[in-house]
Amino acid sequence: MPARKEGLILGIETSCDETSTAVVRGGDEVRSLIISSQADLHARYGGVVPELASRAHLEALLPAVEEAMHEAGVGYGDLDGVAVTHGPGLIGALLVGLTAAKAISFALDIPLLAVNHLEAHIYANFLHFPELEPPLVAFVVSGGHTLLVHMPAHRSYRVLGETLDDAAGEAYDKVARFLGLGYPGGPVIDRLSRQGDPHAVPFPRALMHDGTYNFSLSGLKTAVINHVRKLRERGEDVPVEDIAASFQAAVVEVQVHKVTRAAREVGVSRVILAGGVAANRYLREKLEEALKGKAIGLYYPPLELCADNAAMVAALGWRLLKDGELSPLDVDAAAVLPLGSGLGRMTGNSK
Ligand code: KG4
Ligand code: ZN
Repeated sequence: MPARKEGLILGIETSCDETSTAVVRGGDEVRSLIISSQADLHARYGGVVPELASRAHLEALLPAVEEAMHEAGVGYGDLDGVAVTHGPGLIGALLVGLTAAKAISFALDIPLLAVNHLEAHIYANFLHFPELEPPLVAFVVSGGHTLLVHMPAHRSYRVLGETLDDAAGEAYDKVARFLGLGYPGGPVIDRLSRQGDPHAVPFPRALMHDGTYNFSLSGLKTAVINHVRKLRERGEDVPVEDIAASFQAAVVEVQVHKVTRAAREVGVSRVILAGGVAANRYLREKLEEALKGKAIGLYYPPLELCADNAAMVAALGWRLLKDGELSPLDVDAAAVLPLGSGLGRMTGNSK
């Protein structure tokens, strides 16, 4: 029997430093969303410490499941499936969520729906814009990934380009750490940039005109660090706002150029942003400006759904259930999991 439209899915996300649970009905109605961030725990280290993350997930997860169920006003007997991120991410962190989801699936005898985290970020858009449909170009920018993807149909992906070194969020975090701005770096740099001059320092725009859809940010990161070191050595002031704005302009200019070119060359009329860096105000504005002139629509989720969250996991889980793509109870967690691959997924009848 195909899944009912009203399928009620419990979502679980523990791939990095957010413990999140959600109950979503029918793939687009968020009944509850709980996000417990560990950012404060990791801030003093300037990045996520995997062991601390796993332990914190272990403490936070079951209360977060209870809270999501309570807030949604549903009972465990009402659930049609449990969706969980099984990769890519920190292996210990993933295992906490995956093990809990397996136990819930087994105890309630409901389908286990193992979800790819990157695909879930993409599906945050379909969750928020139920009318949105492929074909489209998706730009996935997170702490661990930069992927430019052609999506001709639902759940179908052709990677056009990716980063050759640092991911977008990773570059923001590293530059922020060097400037002493704390973790995560993206939101701080985004905020400080508003008071800075994006033309103050002409940082390099790597691979801008190389004809590919790839990205490279490690040279830019080094250029920022060298620039700041030189100022410090000379005993000059470090104008943090100008440096943040100039760094961000260098990142975003290449992104806008390549995403716009991809949309035009592939011939789609819709572009979506996905992942934590999709929250970036400058990227949204500049891309919107560039695409508007070409009659291409830009979509991005609200802030809460850009960051790691279990609502996007549940939304994608609903689609897997509908497609009959259930996971066996021995499905593994995977630190590396390419977009579109479902490890150990089996096709069967949904409940
Ligand atoms: O998708 P996400 O929450 O976690 C991963 O799957 O990696 O992305 C987190 C990344 C962090 O690197 C963070 O600094 C970045 O997203 N980020 C931002 C902004 N908000 C979060 N980067 C740029 N501008 C922002 N406003
Ligand atoms: Zn993410």
